[in-house]
Amino acid sequence: MEYKVIPEDRFDEVVDHLRSTFFSDEPLNKAAGLSIPNDYLEHHTYHTLEENMSIMAVTGDNEIAGVILNGSVYPGDYEEALNILEQDSDEKIKKIFRLLFQESINADFFQRFQADKIYELRILSVSPKFRGQGIAKSLVEHAISEGKDHGYKIAKADATGFFSQKILKSNGFNTVLEKYYDKYADTRGEPILHVQSPHIKLQILYKIID
Ligand code: ACO
Repeated sequence: MEYKVIPEDRFDEVVDHLRSTFFSDEPLNKAAGLSIPNDYLEHHTYHTLEENMSIMAVTGDNEIAGVILNGSVYPGDYEEALNILEQDSDEKIKKIFRLLFQESINADFFQRFQADKIYELRILSVSPKFRGQGIAKSLVEHAISEGKDHGYKIAKADATGFFSQKILKSNGFNTVLEKYYDKYADTRGEPILHVQSPHIKLQILYKIID
Protein backbone atom coordinates (compact mmCIF):
# COMPACT_ATOMS: atom_id res chain seq x y z
CA MET A 1 0.00 0.00 0.00
CA GLU A 2 1.31 3.45 -0.89
CA TYR A 3 0.35 6.61 1.04
CA LYS A 4 0.47 9.98 -0.72
CA VAL A 5 -1.08 13.43 -0.89
CA ILE A 6 -4.24 13.33 -3.02
CA PRO A 7 -3.62 15.09 -6.36
CA GLU A 8 -6.31 17.26 -7.96
CA ASP A 9 -6.91 14.81 -10.80
CA ARG A 10 -8.19 12.24 -8.27
CA PHE A 11 -10.60 14.51 -6.32
CA ASP A 12 -13.67 13.17 -8.19
CA GLU A 13 -12.57 9.58 -7.51
CA VAL A 14 -12.28 10.40 -3.79
CA VAL A 15 -15.86 11.69 -3.80
CA ASP A 16 -16.96 8.45 -5.51
CA HIS A 17 -15.12 6.47 -2.82
CA LEU A 18 -16.85 8.47 -0.06
CA ARG A 19 -20.30 8.05 -1.64
CA SER A 20 -19.90 4.29 -1.34
CA THR A 21 -18.32 4.32 2.15
CA PHE A 22 -18.18 7.24 4.59
CA PHE A 23 -21.32 9.11 3.44
CA SER A 24 -23.45 6.07 4.25
CA ASP A 25 -21.58 4.16 6.98
CA GLU A 26 -19.93 6.76 9.24
CA PRO A 27 -21.99 6.40 12.47
CA LEU A 28 -23.73 9.83 12.40
CA ASN A 29 -24.38 9.78 8.63
CA LYS A 30 -25.89 6.32 9.09
CA ALA A 31 -28.04 7.41 12.05
CA ALA A 32 -29.35 10.42 10.11
CA GLY A 33 -29.97 8.32 6.96
CA LEU A 34 -28.38 10.92 4.71
CA SER A 35 -29.42 11.19 1.09
CA ILE A 36 -26.56 10.27 -1.23
CA PRO A 37 -25.22 11.97 -3.31
CA ASN A 38 -25.18 14.79 -0.80
CA ASP A 39 -24.44 18.39 -1.83
CA TYR A 40 -23.37 19.58 1.61
CA LEU A 41 -20.90 16.74 2.23
CA GLU A 42 -19.53 16.92 -1.30
CA HIS A 43 -18.91 20.65 -1.03
CA HIS A 44 -17.23 20.03 2.37
CA THR A 45 -15.08 17.31 0.72
CA TYR A 46 -13.87 19.40 -2.26
CA HIS A 47 -13.24 22.40 -0.01
CA THR A 48 -11.00 20.23 2.21
CA LEU A 49 -9.25 18.48 -0.70
CA GLU A 50 -8.33 21.87 -2.18
CA GLU A 51 -6.11 22.54 0.84
CA ASN A 52 -3.83 19.77 -0.54
CA MET A 53 -3.09 18.15 2.84
CA SER A 54 -5.28 15.05 2.39
CA ILE A 55 -3.79 11.58 2.06
CA MET A 56 -4.88 8.48 0.16
CA ALA A 57 -3.86 4.85 0.51
CA VAL A 58 -3.53 3.29 -2.94
CA THR A 59 -2.96 -0.32 -3.95
CA GLY A 60 -0.40 -1.55 -6.48
CA ASP A 61 -3.22 -1.32 -9.08
CA ASN A 62 -3.70 2.36 -8.18
CA GLU A 63 -7.08 1.68 -6.53
CA ILE A 64 -8.05 4.01 -3.65
CA ALA A 65 -8.33 1.82 -0.54
CA GLY A 66 -8.82 4.64 1.95
CA VAL A 67 -8.46 8.35 2.55
CA ILE A 68 -8.00 10.86 5.32
CA LEU A 69 -9.08 14.40 4.50
CA ASN A 70 -7.39 17.16 6.48
CA GLY A 71 -7.98 20.88 6.63
CA SER A 72 -7.25 24.00 8.60
CA VAL A 73 -9.48 25.81 11.10
CA TYR A 74 -9.08 29.45 12.18
CA PRO A 75 -10.75 31.37 15.02
CA GLY A 76 -14.42 32.05 14.25
CA ASP A 77 -14.68 29.32 11.58
CA TYR A 78 -17.05 27.05 13.56
CA GLU A 79 -19.33 29.98 14.47
CA GLU A 80 -19.48 31.01 10.80
CA ALA A 81 -20.08 27.41 9.67
CA LEU A 82 -22.94 27.10 12.16
CA ASN A 83 -24.58 30.26 10.77
CA ILE A 84 -24.25 29.02 7.19
CA LEU A 85 -25.61 25.61 8.22
CA GLU A 86 -28.85 27.17 9.48
CA GLN A 87 -29.56 28.40 5.93
CA ASP A 88 -29.24 24.87 4.49
CA SER A 89 -32.40 23.00 3.57
CA ASP A 90 -31.05 19.51 4.44
CA GLU A 91 -32.52 18.78 7.89
CA LYS A 92 -30.52 15.55 8.26
CA ILE A 93 -27.24 17.35 7.67
CA LYS A 94 -28.28 19.96 10.25
CA LYS A 95 -28.78 17.24 12.90
CA ILE A 96 -25.16 16.12 12.42
CA PHE A 97 -23.32 19.38 11.94
CA ARG A 98 -25.12 21.36 14.67
CA LEU A 99 -23.70 18.80 17.08
CA LEU A 100 -20.18 18.81 15.59
CA PHE A 101 -19.86 22.58 15.25
CA GLN A 102 -21.40 23.35 18.65
CA GLU A 103 -19.19 20.85 20.49
CA SER A 104 -16.16 22.15 18.59
CA ILE A 105 -17.02 25.66 19.78
CA ASN A 106 -17.40 24.29 23.32
CA ALA A 107 -14.00 22.58 23.08
CA ASP A 108 -12.51 26.08 22.68
CA PHE A 109 -9.24 24.95 21.05
CA PHE A 110 -7.86 28.40 20.28
CA GLN A 111 -8.04 29.56 23.89
CA ARG A 112 -7.23 26.19 25.41
CA PHE A 113 -4.06 25.63 23.37
CA GLN A 114 -3.22 29.27 22.65
CA ALA A 115 -3.26 28.40 18.96
CA ASP A 116 -3.97 30.65 15.98
CA LYS A 117 -4.73 27.75 13.62
CA ILE A 118 -5.63 24.09 13.98
CA TYR A 119 -4.99 21.07 11.78
CA GLU A 120 -8.25 19.11 11.57
CA LEU A 121 -8.44 15.43 10.62
CA ARG A 122 -11.90 15.64 9.11
CA ILE A 123 -12.85 12.50 7.22
CA LEU A 124 -11.30 9.06 7.73
CA SER A 125 -12.59 6.33 5.45
CA VAL A 126 -11.44 2.86 4.35
CA SER A 127 -13.31 0.76 1.76
CA PRO A 128 -15.02 -2.26 3.33
CA LYS A 129 -12.88 -4.75 1.40
CA PHE A 130 -9.66 -3.23 2.79
CA ARG A 131 -10.76 -2.86 6.42
CA GLY A 132 -9.03 -4.57 9.34
CA GLN A 133 -5.53 -4.31 7.80
CA GLY A 134 -4.28 -1.26 9.73
CA ILE A 135 -4.88 1.15 6.82
CA ALA A 136 -6.81 3.71 8.94
CA LYS A 137 -4.04 3.66 11.54
CA SER A 138 -1.40 4.32 8.85
CA LEU A 139 -3.53 7.06 7.28
CA VAL A 140 -3.63 8.86 10.65
CA GLU A 141 0.17 8.55 11.01
CA HIS A 142 0.71 10.00 7.51
CA ALA A 143 -1.81 12.77 8.17
CA ILE A 144 0.06 13.84 11.30
CA SER A 145 3.36 13.91 9.47
CA GLU A 146 1.74 16.03 6.71
CA GLY A 147 0.37 18.45 9.33
CA LYS A 148 3.84 18.81 10.88
CA ASP A 149 5.33 19.53 7.45
CA HIS A 150 2.80 22.35 7.05
CA GLY A 151 3.85 23.87 10.37
CA TYR A 152 0.82 23.02 12.52
CA LYS A 153 1.32 22.54 16.26
CA ILE A 154 -2.04 21.08 17.21
CA ALA A 155 -4.21 18.45 15.54
CA LYS A 156 -7.93 17.92 16.22
CA ALA A 157 -10.40 15.22 15.26
CA ASP A 158 -14.11 14.73 15.92
CA ALA A 159 -14.19 10.98 16.42
CA THR A 160 -17.79 9.90 15.97
CA GLY A 161 -17.47 6.15 16.49
CA PHE A 162 -15.89 3.59 18.77
CA PHE A 163 -13.33 2.43 16.20
CA SER A 164 -12.14 5.87 15.09
CA GLN A 165 -11.74 6.76 18.78
CA LYS A 166 -9.62 3.66 19.32
CA ILE A 167 -7.50 4.32 16.21
CA LEU A 168 -6.83 7.98 17.06
CA LYS A 169 -5.99 7.22 20.69
CA SER A 170 -3.55 4.53 19.61
CA ASN A 171 -1.92 7.30 17.55
CA GLY A 172 -1.45 9.48 20.66
CA PHE A 173 -4.65 11.55 20.62
CA ASN A 174 -6.29 12.59 23.91
CA THR A 175 -9.82 13.67 24.77
CA VAL A 176 -10.81 17.32 25.15
CA LEU A 177 -14.51 16.60 25.56
CA GLU A 178 -17.09 13.96 24.90
CA LYS A 179 -20.83 14.04 24.37
CA TYR A 180 -23.06 11.00 24.79
CA TYR A 181 -25.48 10.67 21.88
CA ASP A 182 -28.45 10.06 24.17
CA LYS A 183 -27.80 13.49 25.72
CA TYR A 184 -28.00 15.22 22.32
CA ALA A 185 -31.74 15.68 22.61
CA ASP A 186 -34.59 17.93 21.47
CA THR A 187 -36.78 20.09 23.76
CA ARG A 188 -38.85 17.03 24.76
CA GLY A 189 -35.73 15.10 25.74
CA GLU A 190 -35.86 12.82 22.66
CA PRO A 191 -32.44 11.93 21.20
CA ILE A 192 -31.93 13.76 17.89
CA LEU A 193 -29.81 10.96 16.40
CA HIS A 194 -30.28 7.27 17.17
CA VAL A 195 -26.68 6.14 16.77
CA GLN A 196 -26.16 2.39 16.62
CA SER A 197 -24.11 0.49 19.19
CA PRO A 198 -21.15 0.28 19.83
CA HIS A 199 -21.02 4.01 19.01
CA ILE A 200 -22.33 5.78 22.12
CA LYS A 201 -20.55 9.12 22.13
CA LEU A 202 -18.74 11.78 20.18
CA GLN A 203 -15.20 12.50 21.31
CA ILE A 204 -13.31 15.63 20.38
CA LEU A 205 -9.66 14.67 20.42
CA TYR A 206 -6.36 16.52 20.16
CA LYS A 207 -2.69 15.81 19.66
CA ILE A 208 0.23 18.21 20.07
CA ILE A 209 2.31 17.65 16.94
CA ASP A 210 5.28 20.01 17.12
N1 ACO B 1 -14.52 -4.03 14.32
C1 ACO B 1 -13.57 -4.33 15.24
N2 ACO B 1 -12.37 -3.67 15.33
C2 ACO B 1 -12.17 -2.67 14.46
C3 ACO B 1 -13.12 -2.30 13.47
C4 ACO B 1 -14.35 -3.03 13.42
N3 ACO B 1 -15.33 -2.72 12.56
N4 ACO B 1 -12.62 -1.26 12.75
C5 ACO B 1 -11.40 -0.98 13.28
N5 ACO B 1 -11.14 -1.83 14.31
C6 ACO B 1 -9.94 -1.86 15.15
C7 ACO B 1 -8.91 -2.81 14.59
O1 ACO B 1 -9.08 -4.10 15.11
C8 ACO B 1 -7.61 -2.21 15.03
O2 ACO B 1 -7.38 -2.50 16.39
P1 ACO B 1 -5.94 -3.05 16.88
O3 ACO B 1 -4.96 -1.95 16.55
O4 ACO B 1 -6.15 -3.27 18.33
O5 ACO B 1 -5.70 -4.28 16.08
C9 ACO B 1 -7.87 -0.72 14.97
O6 ACO B 1 -9.30 -0.58 15.09
C10 ACO B 1 -7.34 -0.09 13.70
O7 ACO B 1 -8.00 -0.66 12.62
P2 ACO B 1 -7.64 -0.36 11.11
O8 ACO B 1 -7.47 -1.66 10.39
O9 ACO B 1 -6.52 0.64 11.00
O10 ACO B 1 -9.01 0.33 10.64
P3 ACO B 1 -9.64 0.19 9.19
O11 ACO B 1 -8.58 0.40 8.15
O12 ACO B 1 -10.44 -1.04 9.12
O13 ACO B 1 -10.62 1.47 9.14
C11 ACO B 1 -12.50 2.83 9.80
C12 ACO B 1 -11.44 1.82 10.26
C13 ACO B 1 -11.83 4.05 9.16
C14 ACO B 1 -13.27 3.30 11.05
C15 ACO B 1 -13.44 2.14 8.76
O14 ACO B 1 -14.15 1.13 9.41
C16 ACO B 1 -14.43 3.09 8.09
O15 ACO B 1 -14.14 3.66 7.03
N6 ACO B 1 -15.64 3.25 8.70
C17 ACO B 1 -16.71 4.11 8.16
C18 ACO B 1 -16.36 5.58 8.26
C19 ACO B 1 -16.02 6.04 9.68
O16 ACO B 1 -16.68 5.71 10.64
N7 ACO B 1 -14.94 6.85 9.79
C20 ACO B 1 -14.48 7.47 11.05
C21 ACO B 1 -15.37 8.61 11.47
S1 ACO B 1 -14.54 9.82 12.49
C22 ACO B 1 -13.62 10.77 11.41
O17 ACO B 1 -13.72 10.67 10.23
C23 ACO B 1 -12.63 11.81 11.96
